Amino acid sequence: MKILEDRILAEGRALNEDILKVDSFINHQVDVELMKAIGKDFADHFKDKNITKVVTIESSGIAPALMTAEALGVPMVIMKKQPSKVLNDDLLQTVVTSFTKGTSYELTLSQKFLDENDHVLFIDDFLANGEAATGAIRLIRMVHATVAGIGILIEKSFMPGKEKLTSAGFDVYSLARIKKLDKGKIEFVEE
Ligand code: G4P
Repeated sequence: MKILEDRILAEGRALNEDILKVDSFINHQVDVELMKAIGKDFADHFKDKNITKVVTIESSGIAPALMTAEALGVPMVIMKKQPSKVLNDDLLQTVVTSFTKGTSYELTLSQKFLDENDHVLFIDDFLANGEAATGAIRLIRMVHATVAGIGILIEKSFMPGKEKLTSAGFDVYSLARIKKLDKGKIEFVEE
């Protein structure tokens, strides 16, 4: 998606070979018009997939997921990062390990908001190792819902997440695909 790539080049900062900062329009300040365009792009791409709900993980996935849900005319569900002590009968949990941040968290979903009749589009801001998406898919499967596709704003194509998900049979659609990062340098995959 050209407007996202242009914005990444204009305002994104490659801190090193691994991390791209996009705080000014995705992760801290949010560009609402950009998120609307992103939502429309995802909705256009997945429009024939009979999606019943858009699912994301708090916090940075919420803005693009909301706009996508609005464009598709379906509800959005937020998977939460909550400690296990809040576990109750309604809640399903799975542990997700973030290699980028060196942390683990309990990803949580209430069974009230997703069931076997749902066909889900999962949206997230970054795809790196694929751990967050894999955790979300585990929860989606626990309620016997199905995955229609995965929409990602920024795919770090030099990391294994994309390959892991596509080889497991998932339809992964990424708006910007990064081939290489280096301090001060950002290179996209040529389409
Ligand atoms: P994975 O899910 O693909 O395995 O990714 P990983 O664990 O490596 O990343 C976990 C967290 O780090 C996610 O945020 C993800 O958005 C973020 N992240 C990964 N790579 C980058 C990067 O290059 N730049 C930035 N800015 N973030 C990155 P999170 O912990 O879920 O936080 P948030 O959604 O609350 O922002």
